[in-house]
Amino acid sequence: MEDKVKIRWVDETDSTQDELRRRFPEHDNLSVTAAVFQTAGRGQRGNRWTSGRGLNLTFSMLLKFGEGGFPALEVSRQFEITKAATLGVVSYLEGKGVEPTIKWPNDIYVRDKKICGMLVENVLDGDKLSHSFVGIGLNMNQREFDPSLTNPVSLSKLTGEEYDLKPELETLASLLAESFRRFIGEGGTALTGDREYENRLYRKGRFHDYVSREDGKVFQGKIIGVSPEGKLLVVNRKGELNEFAFKEINFII
Ligand code: BTN
Repeated sequence: MEDKVKIRWVDETDSTQDELRRRFPEHDNLSVTAAVFQTAGRGQRGNRWTSGRGLNLTFSMLLKFGEGGFPALEVSRQFEITKAATLGVVSYLEGKGVEPTIKWPNDIYVRDKKICGMLVENVLDGDKLSHSFVGIGLNMNQREFDPSLTNPVSLSKLTGEEYDLKPELETLASLLAESFRRFIGEGGTALTGDREYENRLYRKGRFHDYVSREDGKVFQGKIIGVSPEGKLLVVNRKGELNEFAFKEINFII
């Protein structure tokens, strides 16, 4: 079942994350702010997120916790937001006939190419979340990409189709809302989310090359899963298990 979500489109803004943050008290839980164009789109690790005007989906969804929103969520469980968000996008892309995987922690890949990036920004109230801004950039119709990007792809490049962004966002936002309700809503089943997320992990179960940020060395590792706090679990050739936090490991693709 799909949930209808309130979507506010703006023609141009700096970043939908900041647009939503400036006006979040007036928005309901699960509402979306989308932009035709962002002048200062933000990515992970302080990078910029660039997207051609009107070509792709760039939007942020508001999650509220407590009154009028989801049940209180401890900071220690914040990775569940990432899981629910990635699985919502995966479900949307599967509906379009492609086979997405989740490159830990929250990129969506099709084979070795990135189709979607996410920026989850949480606002805390003590040891609980007060609200979250889930920013999603999904490449839809863009055919040419900035050469500085290593491995981008769009849905259109994969399927040969052209997409009408507004109805596509309605479908995607409904799937995201459904996923959030399922995993972090009343009686949500984080355990199911764990399995579904892990089953979709990019490069799970096979040895590949990675770089450890600690010593800058390349090593061969096999992803076996993710810890409850969201650390990546990787076994090396000696059979030793290591846990990596975000920024502690780089994939070699
Ligand atoms: C990444 O892969 O680095 C994360 C990219 C997140 C981009 C989206 S686009 C909508 C929202 N607004 C932003 O400024 N960033 C996110």
